[in-house]
Amino acid sequence: MRAPLLLLGLAAGLALILVFAGVGVHSNPVYNAASAAASAPPDPDAATGALVLQACGGCHSVATLTQHPQDAAGWTATVASMEQLGAQVPSAQRAAVIAYLANHFGPR
Ligand code: HEC
Repeated sequence: MRAPLLLLGLAAGLALILVFAGVGVHSNPVYNAASAAASAPPDPDAATGALVLQACGGCHSVATLTQHPQDAAGWTATVASMEQLGAQVPSAQRAAVIAYLANHFGPR
């Protein structure tokens, strides 16, 4: 009797496909950048994304960022006021963080 085994194989294959398809659900660029940074060859943009997730995702969700699209000048002011509130952005990375925010959460 090979049929039950064959069915089991098909079911397992289908389950795997569904699991991998589910990975695409996180369309937010910050999440994608963070997961890319976990596995990937060095990508400065992804590394900055991971930093944004870490520095900006603690007090409120990163959805707060998508809800306030603004240009680099706006993000410069926002990052400064978040630092007043206690956000930790390494000064060597501040320019990259602001560029990342303007690129990914810029005005639409
Ligand atoms: C120490 C906690 C904390 C951290 C860390 C933090 N925030 Fe905030 N953030 C707040 C609070 C509290 C508010 C809402 C109060 C307010 O609007 O002043 C806020 C609101 C915001 C808003 C809504 C608009 C606004 O200006 O109120 C944006 C956008 C924002 N944060 C972006 C960021 C970014 C980008 C970072 C990372 C650099 C960050 N936050 C890190 C506490 C934080």
